[in-house]
Amino acid sequence: MVDSQSKSNKGPFAGIVRGHRRIGRGFYRVRLEFGQSAGAAFGESDAGQFVQLDLSQAALPPGEVIPAELRDCSERKILLRRPFSFADVEVKNGKTFVEILYSVAGPASLRMTTLSKDDTVSAIGPLGNGFRFPEKKKMALLVAGGMGAGPLIHLAKELTMRHPQLKMMAFAGAKTKEDLPFERRLDAVSQEIGFSLAEFARYAIESQTATDDGSAGFKGFVTDCLCDWLEKNKSDSREMIIYSCGPEVMLAKVAEIAKQRNIDCQVSMERRMACGIGICQSCAVECIDENGEKTYKLCCKDGPVFDAKEVIFNF
Ligand SMILES: Cc1cc2nc3c(=O)[nH]c(=O)nc-3n(C[C@H](O)[C@H](O)[C@H](O)COP(=O)(O)OP(=O)(O)OC[C@H]3O[C@@H](n4cnc5c(N)ncnc54)[C@H](O)[C@@H]3O)c2cc1C
Ligand code: FES
Repeated sequence: MVDSQSKSNKGPFAGIVRGHRRIGRGFYRVRLEFGQSAGAAFGESDAGQFVQLDLSQAALPPGEVIPAELRDCSERKILLRRPFSFADVEVKNGKTFVEILYSVAGPASLRMTTLSKDDTVSAIGPLGNGFRFPEKKKMALLVAGGMGAGPLIHLAKELTMRHPQLKMMAFAGAKTKEDLPFERRLDAVSQEIGFSLAEFARYAIESQTATDDGSAGFKGFVTDCLCDWLEKNKSDSREMIIYSCGPEVMLAKVAEIAKQRNIDCQVSMERRMACGIGICQSCAVECIDENGEKTYKLCCKDGPVFDAKEVIFNF
């Protein structure tokens, strides 16, 4: 995994919608096809990198399907592109397909739901720095909170392909069963099998789910689930690495768990982004430098993936 800022061509590229489906109550997965020039850029991308999508031209859905809480803001003009990570990148027969897993959060993602087959979306990317793989690791733990699942599903595939000897275990948490952004319904039977999440099982990766209300899997936070697993599966912490993406409060807890056990940990941070390329300074992440001094890094350019030890979490 190379410093992605050194990879030159970042678009804008035209992505053609090749598939778009709803997953569960409020999640969507859109599949975009990119032409040859973009294909080279995306084909080399790392899990955790992202694209800035221009959704200003996408239509609004009919009024009756707009969630009540978004009615006021839905008509707002979409002036800025919005960042989205990849849940999958596939190079097939000389074509490159990028999949994005998303939920409706505001006016741009609301418009995104109306994209249909053969529509075109402008994408700038791949941007930022993705997850890195330090040598000598034997076990990777992937910890996802809510919408943080997307880049970790991509990472699972990438690590399987690039590091076939690596063992992996995935943990996914959300408030309730409906808030888990996965394809398969999490019925009681599937939860008893360690491979309940098909998105990870397809790479032979065992998974555990956690919900705050106990409606699927472990009752409690995904970080409690992670702690439980670490207690039961003692191994050399120097050979382990934790990768995490999700709400900042969860990332802070994951970072603390990793620090206590001396496990390397990388977290994918989120900030509101305007330019996405290190110019506007809107996406600062408070960090500690190697001398222990407070400093600021840019989520879009230095991240979004950071070593957990350097981040000062704010929530
Ligand atoms: C690197 C990166 C990767 C991302 N990947 C995905 C992804 O794969 N799938 C996905 O669904 N979303 C992803 N997001 C989040 C997505 O970009 C935002 O939710 C986006 O603002 C949606 O636009 P909108 O107009 O629909 O909502 P907006 O009106 O822009 O935002 C809706 C609500 O979310 C809050 N919000 C927006 N962006 C952020 C942020 N960065 N941090 C904290 N709160 C925020 C706003 O304050 C507001 O309350 C990613 C964000 C980043 C920075
Ligand atoms: S979004 Fe502009 S500097 Fe990061």
